[in-house]
Amino acid sequence: MTAIDGAEFAPDPSRPQALLSACPVYAETPLSAMDLGKNTQVLVKDESARMRLGSFKALGGTYAVAQMINDAWREAGNAPLTPEEFTSDAAKEIASTMTFMCASAGNHGLSVAAGANIFGAKARIHLSEEVPEGFAERLRGIGAEVVRSGPTYETSLDAANKDAAETDALLLADGSWPGYTYRPSLVMEGYTVIAEEMRRAFKRGAQPWPTHVFLQAGVGGLASAIAYMIRRNWTEQPDIIIVEPEAAPCLKNSHEAGKIVHAPGPVSNMGRLDCKDPSLVAFHALEKCDVSYVTVTDDEANAAVAALQGYGITSTPSGTAGYTALLKAGLPDDAHPLVIISEGAV
Ligand SMILES: Cc1ncc(COP(=O)(O)O)c(C=O)c1O
Repeated sequence: MTAIDGAEFAPDPSRPQALLSACPVYAETPLSAMDLGKNTQVLVKDESARMRLGSFKALGGTYAVAQMINDAWREAGNAPLTPEEFTSDAAKEIASTMTFMCASAGNHGLSVAAGANIFGAKARIHLSEEVPEGFAERLRGIGAEVVRSGPTYETSLDAANKDAAETDALLLADGSWPGYTYRPSLVMEGYTVIAEEMRRAFKRGAQPWPTHVFLQAGVGGLASAIAYMIRRNWTEQPDIIIVEPEAAPCLKNSHEAGKIVHAPGPVSNMGRLDCKDPSLVAFHALEKCDVSYVTVTDDEANAAVAALQGYGITSTPSGTAGYTALLKAGLPDDAHPLVIISEGAV
């Protein structure tokens, strides 16, 4: 594989962890072994209550906002901010000059807007008409400007790129492409916290190490951050299975092509995973992680949501896609699979 400048994912998980240590709403999310109708128990990492934002994305955008404010602070000639100093008046004065902007299927925008709100900056979020109004209301509730930007996620991405070209707003995308890798890598660095929380729980024996880890992917930020950390420092190595909607297998197709490819397809009911173009950084990280790929259909996704509802887990087709893939994986009886519920009901 040819190396691409800036596309190397080399996170330092201690950085987001240090910032979170000063955050009053941070707590590890639950990791439980549940009897979900499989022969063995399923390990479930439940991100639905993460930082009161409803999804794992809370860890990425907010953290990237903080680091970008720190960068601006340092460019002004200051020593790096300590975790406690991020919300100081002096740091907020610099942050107040910054507008963070992105396109979002919902959760990434909420995370960026929450970061802007906490640290005293502004936020503008582009949402396509597919994104439920509930997200727009929550975004406005934390002070963000919401722009409805066309019918699909792709049109909202175009609108965000145009916004970045025409204004001073700082584009903070969760996807990455040639020449635009630093900020999305920060977002992904934030997600490494999830893998570290799980590793610590397995290490202290709270649960057995998993044999299979199912990771749902949109642009691939979550999946690659977790897969990277698993391969880097988990004591026992599981099989890693990347799960995408049949309508948007952009990582699977890119893996098979050996390069980034666009994956056209119909709209999926897994709205947060319905990404037709993978993140460059995520793709290259996954290529080094020895993972396999599966797709799930909209009907399979609906059936999995209904099945989990019966076990008291309320989520969405995107949030339960890892479990959807587990249901049809045909694992051996002694497997200990792990799935992530990546969001709660929306
Ligand atoms: C709930 C949920 N699950 C999974 C994903 C996929 O994450 P990524 O786009 O980083 O692959 C997203 C992305 O928005 C999401 O909101």
